[in-house]
Amino acid sequence: MERSQRLRIAVQKSGRLTDHSLDLLARCGLKFSRGKDQLMCYGENMPLDVLFVRDDDIPDLVQEDVCDLGLVGLNVIEEKRLAMAARGTQARFELIQRLDFGRCRLSLAVPDEFRYEGLRSLAGRRIATTYPNTLARFLRENSIEAEIVTLSGAVEIAPRLGRADLICDLVSTGSTLNANHLREVTTVLESEAALIRTPVPLPDEKADWVRRLLMRIDGVQQVRESKYIMLHAPRSALPEIKKLLPGSESPTVIPLDGSGEKVAVHAVCRENVFWETLESLKAAGASAVLVLPVEKMLA
Ligand code: PRP
Ligand code: ZN
Repeated sequence: MERSQRLRIAVQKSGRLTDHSLDLLARCGLKFSRGKDQLMCYGENMPLDVLFVRDDDIPDLVQEDVCDLGLVGLNVIEEKRLAMAARGTQARFELIQRLDFGRCRLSLAVPDEFRYEGLRSLAGRRIATTYPNTLARFLRENSIEAEIVTLSGAVEIAPRLGRADLICDLVSTGSTLNANHLREVTTVLESEAALIRTPVPLPDEKADWVRRLLMRIDGVQQVRESKYIMLHAPRSALPEIKKLLPGSESPTVIPLDGSGEKVAVHAVCRENVFWETLESLKAAGASAVLVLPVEKMLA
């Protein structure tokens, strides 16, 4: 009963995506408290609860309709899809939207002493990974015959243990590879976080909350880079100044009291505004330039 009224979203329990996922939900206005080791958080001001699980379990939880939504990396989504396809079934979760965080790549990495001379160096080698299906597709597409050693974790130590010649694993900052004397040689898959949903149709009220959440996520993503910029300029400099404002639609131009030729220009810039831009604006005749962060935006 309770279940059917409230949305449930699955989020990575502890890992690269956890903090960003919770931050995104908080920016969408969700208030919740999370105790240590708590499996679930109740949203206090929205009918939305957060379930903390291993990221690899998220696609299943969503396609089995245990959760309505899931925040997970494309790497996990793609591996799941391919694993199911290999068994002759089709993934049933739906990808709704890519999100602009959790960027990383699935890459091949070799030990320092490995002599890598292009993909042909992989022939006949053992490659350790937790992404056997994605790796298999890559090998197939590149006509490489190699052995895939499927592990459930700690892939980076497989070469040292003699279980593999190289690895295929996620890289984001590269510090895991560095710490294990491994060198990235080629990218297999680019990834970032995404939102997936259950294949089961949602009752109206839940569907409405999903729509609202998506709109807010959109707003959050737009706002991240956006700035509100205000400046004074002679009217004659306007064409030049409009050209310099990064990613802004038609700015607002307001006459300044008492000074015939000078105007104030206000614009929302959908890209970050760098010092170089401010310097160019000044050179074009702008003065009293102010750049402000944008907190919320609803198109
Ligand atoms: C990945 C990967 C590495 C680490 C790489 O783990 O397995 O351990 O991130 O990041 P780095 O380049 O910044 O060092 P992930 O967070 O996806 O957790 P999981 O594999 O345990 O699910
Ligand atoms: Zn994982």
